Amino acid sequence: MLHSSENRIVAFKLDGGEVPKPVVRKDEPFPKPPTNEASPTEIQAGETKFIEQCSRCHALGPNITPDLRKMPQQAHDMFKDILLGGAFAPRGMESFIDVLSDKEVENIHAYLIEQSWQAYRQQQAPDAERTPMTAPNTNDADPH
Ligand code: HEC
Repeated sequence: MLHSSENRIVAFKLDGGEVPKPVVRKDEPFPKPPTNEASPTEIQAGETKFIEQCSRCHALGPNITPDLRKMPQQAHDMFKDILLGGAFAPRGMESFIDVLSDKEVENIHAYLIEQSWQAYRQQQAPDAERTPMTAPNTNDADPH
């Protein structure tokens, strides 16, 4: 999504020239996420719950709700308060206390941290996928 999705009205006329495009969206960079201490099984379980409960409002990408891979440290710290305590309920993010257990919330958090790390690493080294994992060893190169 290159452009922002703010509402606008475009009027057309013959020979009216180029159609103005909406302003180019500015992407916030991915902040460095906290360390992930969860196991792959927990992360997997978190992904399932995320898809079940969160993805109808949160996309891991541009959306009208926050991209949860870009959570500031404060949101990580408050994760349980937000999810089970309804800390952001006045802002449209209801508590899931009647739906999710403590452990399920931890798993979702772990999944999001994992996804945040993937995005963060990609951002720090956009060419990483094309670079071979081990650089050719130049020490043994023939000096001639
Ligand atoms: C009905 C829609 C809806 C659902 C479902 C939903 N959220 Fe949200 N969530 C929101 C909205 C809206 C906000 C933004 C509140 C604001 O503007 O600060 C938000 C904000 C958040 C934030 C704060 C992010 C930040 O950067 O401040 C977290 C964390 C979060 N949601 C986690 C979740 C998780 C995890 C789930 C699934 C269990 C979930 N949400 C499901 C609507 C939803």
